[in-house]
Amino acid sequence: MAEDEWRGLFRRLSSAGLMPARGMQQRLLELDDPDAVLKSAKRLGMNGILNDEMLDQLLVGPEAVVDDETPSFATGVPPPNGDSPVLDTPVSVDEPAVGRVVAPVLEPPLEIAARPHGLPHFDIAKFPLAATETDTELDIHFDITGNSITACTMGDMLSYFNDRLQRIKRIIIQGGRLPNRPIDIRRLARERKRFGNRDTTATIIGLVSEIRHGSSNLRFTLEDETGDYACILYPPGGAADTSSASRRNQLLVAGLMNDNVIGVTGHIQGDRRDVLVVDDVHLPPLPNHRKSAAPADQAVSVAFLSDLHLGSNTFLHAQWDKLVKWFHEDPLAKTVKYLILSGDVVDGVGIYPGQQGHLQIVDLYKQYEGVARLIEQLPDWLETMILPGNHDAVRPAEPQPALDPRIQEYFNSTTFAGNPCEFSLHGVRVLSYHGVSILDFVSGMRNVTFSQPEVAMQEMLERRHLAPSWRGKTPLSPEPEDHMVIGTIPDIFVTGHVHGHYCGEHKGITLVHSSTWQDQTNYQRMLGFQPKPCILTVINLHTHESASIPFA
Ligand SMILES: [Fe+2]
Ligand SMILES: [Fe+2]
Repeated sequence: MAEDEWRGLFRRLSSAGLMPARGMQQRLLELDDPDAVLKSAKRLGMNGILNDEMLDQLLVGPEAVVDDETPSFATGVPPPNGDSPVLDTPVSVDEPAVGRVVAPVLEPPLEIAARPHGLPHFDIAKFPLAATETDTELDIHFDITGNSITACTMGDMLSYFNDRLQRIKRIIIQGGRLPNRPIDIRRLARERKRFGNRDTTATIIGLVSEIRHGSSNLRFTLEDETGDYACILYPPGGAADTSSASRRNQLLVAGLMNDNVIGVTGHIQGDRRDVLVVDDVHLPPLPNHRKSAAPADQAVSVAFLSDLHLGSNTFLHAQWDKLVKWFHEDPLAKTVKYLILSGDVVDGVGIYPGQQGHLQIVDLYKQYEGVARLIEQLPDWLETMILPGNHDAVRPAEPQPALDPRIQEYFNSTTFAGNPCEFSLHGVRVLSYHGVSILDFVSGMRNVTFSQPEVAMQEMLERRHLAPSWRGKTPLSPEPEDHMVIGTIPDIFVTGHVHGHYCGEHKGITLVHSSTWQDQTNYQRMLGFQPKPCILTVINLHTHESASIPFA
């Protein structure tokens, strides 16, 4: 009962921008009229973390003074001047009325989450096990936290790009689809006479740069440790076989990403000896993936969210309350053992010019304290994991380390990891990346748009790299080893950042673009971008069945 009362009060407080600090529950519930705090805060224009200090101020604020002078509704004593008191708290018709009640304001009951947005229904039978029956099994395979060793020297930069080139080159060669053994670019330059016709082709593998789209061709440069060479790709003629023709067409339409590693097979044409005419292109092979599954006796589920942006005045408090209620009452929620938050849990401070005017909580630490309080509302059986994003209080350069230990102290039992992070839940491998590089994919590739972030995710997998472009919008840390290379294909690949939502498959890999908990911002409105907030994605680790639950 007290829990229900607290949940209702927490919801009313958080909707008014007051986030109760840890340990405030008892003091607030002991108040004769906890809702008087809301009125006082409204009059004083106060919001943020509701701690003892703020509560003291609110209890002696103008509202409290007015309440002292104005007999309360509960006392049944009419005000001296006969005016009606302002009633904005629930009233009972059995209690003696003061003045004239035009329309009693009753607290609206929380509705059960509907299924709008065209999201499909799910079959609860495909989510077979309650989360309380299984122990946690979380293994982290990669996390940069404490392992960043770059000094950002030229040597580190060289090592970073060489590592990327060698690892992706190895994947391309091991795919076994190259028509001939790749040669160094220096050797191609030296022996260019030899490759003067289609029967004597050369295959080179390198990093892409200087991309230029012509009216019907694509020019770019490939570079390896030994040199660079200009390449030109024309639409395939009739002689090209279907698979190579389709690869060439795809590249002509979609384009390339700077610093992406690809292979090409081509020949030198006529007098233009400084240009390789591309006959075929080679991306790292991505065959259909067979997912690992959790054993039947560990058939629990994982839920994904991202971009809560707590602290922003567009954080959706009421929808979070619906989520909390759902977690405590819905049968599907009972199967959810893990909640992964893939970055931007807070809006941060000083992230963009003028952000101050869009903040409900202006103190960064209080934003994180607020997130801790939000998570505390969720059931005890849930294991929460938080990764950082570009709004979080860590270095922006990727890979980003986990949140600072001082911030972690606000949280009771949450796992913190860096961004990106590779981990396994009951043997199911998850790659979680916040997704800043989606911006680079949108500006670099013609087939990627903000409204379909899953296409950017597909391109990351196909290129085996989360953020290839060095001089793009994604800040990158030149670690001697390039940790943004996708070395092992995950069973579940999850991103956020763009504030869309998607759950689907690409070549057997489950793609999740986690939904945000922030309403449309002014900036997004200006761009005409409509976010898809408040959709919880749930995936069963045994059946791999998915459900997307809307709360907006
Ligand atoms: Fe975000
Ligand atoms: Fe972000």
